[in-house]
Amino acid sequence: MKKTNDDLIILREILARELETINVYQNLASRTANADVADFINHIAEEEKEHVAEAMEVINQMDHSQASRFGAGAHWRQSAEISNPSPSPSTKSQDRSFTVGSLREK
Ligand SMILES: [Fe+2]
Repeated sequence: MKKTNDDLIILREILARELETINVYQNLASRTANADVADFINHIAEEEKEHVAEAMEVINQMDHSQASRFGAGAHWRQSAEISNPSPSPSTKSQDRSFTVGSLREK
């Protein structure tokens, strides 16, 4: 079990680095006036997107809780509604389920 958790931590670190690298490459591409250089950088940025997809696939295979979050719909919209509740405080605590970030209000 611990090995799986260690591996998930490693995979999430890889995923984070891949996402950061996309941003770095896109920023670098925007800074060059040379179209060939920009094309090359954008090409490798696209490869990083493939690495993101691959890393996510492996993570999903190892973390079924994470995998279940894909295809579940726009969950973040529900969180946004909780973060910006209607003016009526009486409805605030009704029919609430835990969502990402919902515990921050406590
Ligand atoms: Fe990569």
